[in-house]
Amino acid sequence: MCGIIGFTGKLEAKNILLEGLASLEYRGYDSAGISLFDNGKIRTIKTAGKVTNLVDKAESSGDITSTCGIGHTRWATHGGVTDTNAHPHAHGKVTLIHNGIIENYHELEVELATAGRYPISQTDTEMVAMLIDSLYTGNAIDAIREAIKRIEGAYAFCILFADEPEVIYCIRNASPLVACHANDGSIIASDMVALIPYSKDYFVLPEHHIARLTKDDIVVMNLEKEVVVPKMIHVNWDVTAAQKGGYPHFMLKEIFEQPESIRSTILPRIIKGDLPDFTVDRIPNEIFEKVNRVIITACGTAMHAGLVGKAMLEKLLRIPVEVDIASEFRYQDPIIDKNTLVITISQSGETADTLASLRLAKELGATTLSVVNVKGSTIDRESDYVLYTQAGPEIAVASTKAYTAQLSCLYLIAFKFALIRGTITEAQCGAYMKELKAVIPAIEKTLTLDKTVEEISRGLADTEDLFFIGRGLDYALSCEGSIKLKEISYIHSEAYAAGELKHGTLSLVTEGVPVIALATQAKVYSKMISNIREVRARGAIVILITNGDAEVEATLYDYHIALPAMNDFFTPFSSAIVLQLLAYYTCVHRGFDVDQPRNLAKAVTVE
Ligand code: AGP
Repeated sequence: MCGIIGFTGKLEAKNILLEGLASLEYRGYDSAGISLFDNGKIRTIKTAGKVTNLVDKAESSGDITSTCGIGHTRWATHGGVTDTNAHPHAHGKVTLIHNGIIENYHELEVELATAGRYPISQTDTEMVAMLIDSLYTGNAIDAIREAIKRIEGAYAFCILFADEPEVIYCIRNASPLVACHANDGSIIASDMVALIPYSKDYFVLPEHHIARLTKDDIVVMNLEKEVVVPKMIHVNWDVTAAQKGGYPHFMLKEIFEQPESIRSTILPRIIKGDLPDFTVDRIPNEIFEKVNRVIITACGTAMHAGLVGKAMLEKLLRIPVEVDIASEFRYQDPIIDKNTLVITISQSGETADTLASLRLAKELGATTLSVVNVKGSTIDRESDYVLYTQAGPEIAVASTKAYTAQLSCLYLIAFKFALIRGTITEAQCGAYMKELKAVIPAIEKTLTLDKTVEEISRGLADTEDLFFIGRGLDYALSCEGSIKLKEISYIHSEAYAAGELKHGTLSLVTEGVPVIALATQAKVYSKMISNIREVRARGAIVILITNGDAEVEATLYDYHIALPAMNDFFTPFSSAIVLQLLAYYTCVHRGFDVDQPRNLAKAVTVE
């Protein structure tokens, strides 16, 4: 997620901006830049790479005396990681930074071109700088008001107008902006970790309100230009606590970031008519046309995402899809030819086994398409094509938002693939895409089950062994639930295909053994109820997860979690939220290290 900082006041601005960007690095980025009023002129310094590169570039840019400027760390969505694509972007009188995604930037680009205005970068953001400058006739607020009527998407903008030195204008929609005024001046940022060194009292800029920052004050007005007084918030956090956004652990913060991370992953790939579009990702339709077989290979949670991807692809494409554990795949003699598409999935893009599998697939002539979160990672650089998860940096070792972002990408690939192959119509594809977008509010609703799940997890705190059971997609989610619980709470758990229990494992289900039963798939619901009866008859404690308020006898369970009702093709998203929360709270109740569990690393870069 991009980082934003703006300062205007009595102090020297350059270092405030650079230090602010450094404190926002944990948000993840791949380029950085600042713009400063320097003797009445706006100077911009920006670079691909880290904030340290920017500091070096600023140091070598000669003396800059400035008390007002804006700074940005970019997590690339549109356009590669280059100096030109780094923010700030300037056109005419306007210099601007942006966090978010402009959905209709194609339209804006065409319209601005007719007015003879052309971008120099590949970013959606630059269209906004061009648009505001095209509307500017001397009144900044009117130009901003007019421009946002034309913009669709999520945004947080900080804007400098050359005619108003020492003034910063800001406005947002969905993307975050917080601000405060202290003795030394006014400061605004994408999250309050950058404000803490200056004040522990801040406010959240209300959406669709314009903030005008000067060294003396911050004036906030609505779009009717009526001044409003935003609600102040006081915190007693240190910087690390602030990086967790007030959550006790990064894992919980990342669980609650999933509506935003899925929105950021899905929306840039949806064009008019709700159809999937990979233009931004530079993935040509042709790669899907000749494929007669798909292999998905990854490790751990990423491999579990692949199990869901397999179900999607086989259902919609009717071609064989296999999922291989990368550490196995790399030493098998896989059957691959030029008509095989190999999809590797990796949050870090550095997992040794997955990287080795990617290299083997390429050697054998496959086309490789990777689903990766970290841009510039080895798997990113070595894949033929990449569909990025826009989850932002995932700090906790246990993967949560990256997993659901991986699911999002796999659903997009399945819909796009099927549309190109003609196995679904545009109307069917549009309907699927609408349901995929509906996952976002469904996840927001599922997150409200947080306290219910915490209560249930108390009953697991003293457990040493438990089972996850499910059928179809619910079996894939059982695998994910099991690894989440094991890796942070250190409880031994197994995921079992529910129909397989009676072939041996049922002997381990005795009085008091917890069984987490996922029963969201309508087609096999009655079979799942039979399996639940089997474990219930042996004394199991049953935690039942259903799709909506499915009818089920109360004698069959101890706890029932009803997910928001939805097409059961999409329940993996909401089931994942519950399983992540269950693992999280069980670990907390057991008193272990949630974010850094024993023996594990965030990226397993060795065999
Ligand atoms: C997930 O909770 C684990 N930390 C682990 O299974 C992880 O998914 C696996 O190591 C793969 O990592 P990658 O996605 O970075 O390749």
